[in-house]
Amino acid sequence: MNVEKTLVLLKPCTVQRALIGEIIQIFEKKGLRVAGLKMMQLDDAILAEHYAHLVDRPFFPGLKASMMATPVVALALEGVEAIEVVRQMAGPTNGRKALPGTIRGDYSMSGQQNIVHASDGPESAAAELRRFFRPEEIFDWENPLDRSLYSDDGC
Ligand code: TYD
Repeated sequence: MNVEKTLVLLKPCTVQRALIGEIIQIFEKKGLRVAGLKMMQLDDAILAEHYAHLVDRPFFPGLKASMMATPVVALALEGVEAIEVVRQMAGPTNGRKALPGTIRGDYSMSGQQNIVHASDGPESAAAELRRFFRPEEIFDWENPLDRSLYSDDGC
């Protein structure tokens, strides 16, 4: 049973549009367990690390400014194959291209103001969870409803 944790950021556009609760509810309704949750103000250093693959792109300064416009909400979500599930739920980067039914498809018209960040693989999920949460801020609580979410073998 491939239980994974993944990192989601609710971006400043989501905070400004008062969608924090609505977006968290989408993940909760899906059956993902909230293992960590906090609000934090991002700065240059953490964004240079988080978006290291994009620092040379022309849109990086604008991206950085948009990610520092207000605090973000960081979530650690857990579930079987949670990394892929959450990426699918987020949809493609550009909200205009994302299909209805995905979070970006339903809530975003932009390739930058696109509601959520979601880790894109096991290595990035591990690194990003360490980047945004101290170990004691992630909780491995047991959910008695797991039996109604999964079969005994996690299917
Ligand atoms: P990326 O890691 O390519 O996408 P994703 O968030 O889907 O994993 O890009 C990170 C963020 O950079 C993206 O969410 C929004 C921003 N971005 C822009 O502002 N302009 C762009 O042209 C691209 C590709 C990304």
